[in-house]
Amino acid sequence: MSYILITGGTGYIGSHTCLQLIQAGYTPVILDNFINSKPAVLQRITQLSGQTPIMIEGDIRHRPTLEKIFKQYPIEGVIHFAGLKAVGESVQKPIEYYENNVAGTLTLLEAMQQAQVKRIIFSSSATVYGDPASVPIRESFPTLSATNPYGQSKLMIERILQDVAHVSPDWSITLLRYFNPVGAHPSGLMGEDPQGIPNNLTPYITQVAIGRREQLSVFGNDYPTPDGTGVRDYIHVMDLADGHVAALKHKFSEAGVHIYNLGTGRGYSVLEVLKAFEKACGHSIRYQLSPRRAGDIAECWSDASKAATELHWQAQRSLDDMAQDCWRWQTENPQGYPDNV
Ligand code: NAD
Ligand code: UD1
Repeated sequence: MSYILITGGTGYIGSHTCLQLIQAGYTPVILDNFINSKPAVLQRITQLSGQTPIMIEGDIRHRPTLEKIFKQYPIEGVIHFAGLKAVGESVQKPIEYYENNVAGTLTLLEAMQQAQVKRIIFSSSATVYGDPASVPIRESFPTLSATNPYGQSKLMIERILQDVAHVSPDWSITLLRYFNPVGAHPSGLMGEDPQGIPNNLTPYITQVAIGRREQLSVFGNDYPTPDGTGVRDYIHVMDLADGHVAALKHKFSEAGVHIYNLGTGRGYSVLEVLKAFEKACGHSIRYQLSPRRAGDIAECWSDASKAATELHWQAQRSLDDMAQDCWRWQTENPQGYPDNV
């Protein structure tokens, strides 16, 4: 019965991770303010795992809430997902993004320090590599200043955590740099539930495929890639969730800073992804070629060998699995999670 505090545990990646944690014998204690998620996901976790996770509705920026949780439960460590994540919105609302992501993390760390909880896994992103000099990207590549507050907040938090490790060598800090998480639970009961117009590729594709949007804009077909469209390392959210369980098993008890790419180690172009989704839904999906999106890079994919060696973890699910599971989630929940439970 290891109690793990999961901030942002009702969100897209957090909810799938909670499920895998329960199945691996851990007890997640979720803290979420539902700013970008809905309580209905808890029922789905219960339905799939047979266990109702402990849920505290609250904000990571509210120190008394954190103190209460650390007093109430024997928390062994934290997986820190909570944060705002929309790149475009972060440019419009920098104060909100830094306040939530950076100040929120500082409040969490203060409360952890006070409660003598010294283990944390942080949701970082491949965005910290900026436009890398080459692919595949290894963890040893330099991190580069981001062009938007979202990316910058990830860099700042990574830096803060490394500074904490410097003065507190007994802390265990794991930075997981996710590539492009996609897909859904294979049951069709859990998935990504973006509010408004999706910014990311696969939710946009499924909404076109189901008829909620007219067509996909393919941002740029003149990149130096095999078909001219952007190449990314898409990783199934269930593989990503398993990556967190692996990090808990292999690194949580080891002091120091541990950094891992969580990706598949291969890239797919926008058109290849589109094709996989056409196969999954059984019909063609309308698209138009459009100009490049500002801030996009040509190629971003991981060297995932460090996680394979040290965490004994490797992504198992294929692009077809990602497309099929996404499609099942979309068709069975065309409006996402219900508002009322
Ligand atoms: P998400 O928005 O679905 O989940 C984040 C959760 O945190 C939501 O449930 C939200 O309600 C909650 N939250 C936000 N601010 C909070 C606060 N102040 N207090 C309490 N709860 C709060 O996002 P996700 O896709 O599951 O991403 C999880 C983490 O992974 C984020 O930190 C994100 O930046 C990072 N990440 C995501 C991706 C991706 O493509 N999804 C890629 C790289 C990194
Ligand atoms: C984006 C963010 C990144 C974040 C990641 C995960 C930007 C610039 N980067 O990465 O910081 O960590 O999401 O949340 O926003 N595409 C289209 N049409 C669309 C949408 C996307 O062609 O409607 C293309 C993009 O140009 C890109 C690929 O699809 O080549 C993937 O895009 P997206 O899903 O937004 O992820 P990233 O841009 O890789």
